[in-house]
Amino acid sequence: MRDDPRAPLLPTSPGFWRSPLRGPRFTAVLGLVLLVGVTVLFGTGLLSYAACNPGLSPVNDKTPDKGVLGFYLFAWPTDPHWLYRLTQGVHVTLGITLIPVLLAKLWSVVPRLFTLPPARSLAHALERLSLLLLVGGGLFQFVTGVLNVQLDYVFPGSFYPLHFYGAWVFFAAFVAHAALKTPTALRNLRRLREEPGDLVSPRPAEPTVSRRGALWFVGGASLLLFATTVGQSLGGALRRTALLAPHGGADPGSGPNGFQINKTATHAGIDRAETGADAWRLVVTGRTGTVRLSRAQLAGLPQYSAALPIACVEGWSTPDQWWRGVRLRDLAALVGHDDPPDLFVESLQRHGAFRKAALRANQVADPRSLLALYVNGEELSPDHGHPARIIVPAAPGVLNTKWVARLTFGDL
Ligand code: HEM
Repeated sequence: MRDDPRAPLLPTSPGFWRSPLRGPRFTAVLGLVLLVGVTVLFGTGLLSYAACNPGLSPVNDKTPDKGVLGFYLFAWPTDPHWLYRLTQGVHVTLGITLIPVLLAKLWSVVPRLFTLPPARSLAHALERLSLLLLVGGGLFQFVTGVLNVQLDYVFPGSFYPLHFYGAWVFFAAFVAHAALKTPTALRNLRRLREEPGDLVSPRPAEPTVSRRGALWFVGGASLLLFATTVGQSLGGALRRTALLAPHGGADPGSGPNGFQINKTATHAGIDRAETGADAWRLVVTGRTGTVRLSRAQLAGLPQYSAALPIACVEGWSTPDQWWRGVRLRDLAALVGHDDPPDLFVESLQRHGAFRKAALRANQVADPRSLLALYVNGEELSPDHGHPARIIVPAAPGVLNTKWVARLTFGDL
């Protein structure tokens, strides 16, 4: 009981929170949307890590100390060829679309963070601790994710381990929270009347909007974020609608090479003198030794085509492009591997996390996996990896190495 009724109310007092919008039903609706959304986010995030085949080689693994958290990893398939385009497009677009729901949910339960006593029992103390991991972990995941796709690498350390470990901490707290709260949330949704207490303000202010109106507002904000983000994953003419995407507004130019890239040849430190017809030789090593091939010699080998997208870890992707070049499995056979093995790829690139990459035997064996020399009927442009680049179905863009210098077939 407040000694002096004129004294201002503290956040620890239910009367401090005046909004008539708060209540178990408002919170339950937002909670159930997040229950589905965050689970899909976690799943697609784990797939993003698996798609890099981190178990294949240290060059693919940006979170080498993961230990048991890598239990779920598997050999990433090559079918369907749009797989990573879908999973990472969903991951980033859904992540951004859920931001208003996450913020509204946190707003709706803020009074609970101030309730006293902080712990009524050990179980209550544990639940409150899990709430700190849930709220802290959730904000951490969304903030690091958004900073990453906005190319704002201001987080302390590498994005990969931060976001990966953060995901496990957040999701573990999320599962505990969902197990505890989902039955209550479903009951609250069925309940017709809400009793004061438990988020319902004992002295609500005059409503300025109805709960339904507030939920429509949150839904509208999510829809707006969705509409100004999804274009980067759909590609084509819709790319221009991706106003929030850092590459969204960039004009990739027109013509056969006029589609999106991440790093230009200049940004990657490619020295044009090294890519000329006289200077550049692809070094291919395998069981029977090493061969050095000029671009003309590669163009003289049997050429194959494949319609494949570029799908970036940042969530943007292009529609299928028509690539043409030498099959990786044919290059493997050239150095004595009739049964295509794993492949280690090195680029002329001087900057960037994925200057080297490893491909698994199933990726090398796929007839659509190419060392591409042409795209959409024209020679690759310098920014698309001229003299030659890797293109593999269903693989993240970072494994489709540009400006290839060396291929080493065999045990990695
Ligand atoms: C706005 C929200 C989010 C955005 C924009 C986002 C963005 C991203 C991006 C760009 C990657 C690929 C990183 C890379 O390989 O370069 C990624 C990976 C991942 N995300 Fe998120 N994310 C978000 C929220 C979440 C949440 C809430 C979770 C967990 C519940 C999560 C779990 C993961 C995991 C496990 C990975 C794999 C990390 C790795 O490859 O090392 N993300 N996310």
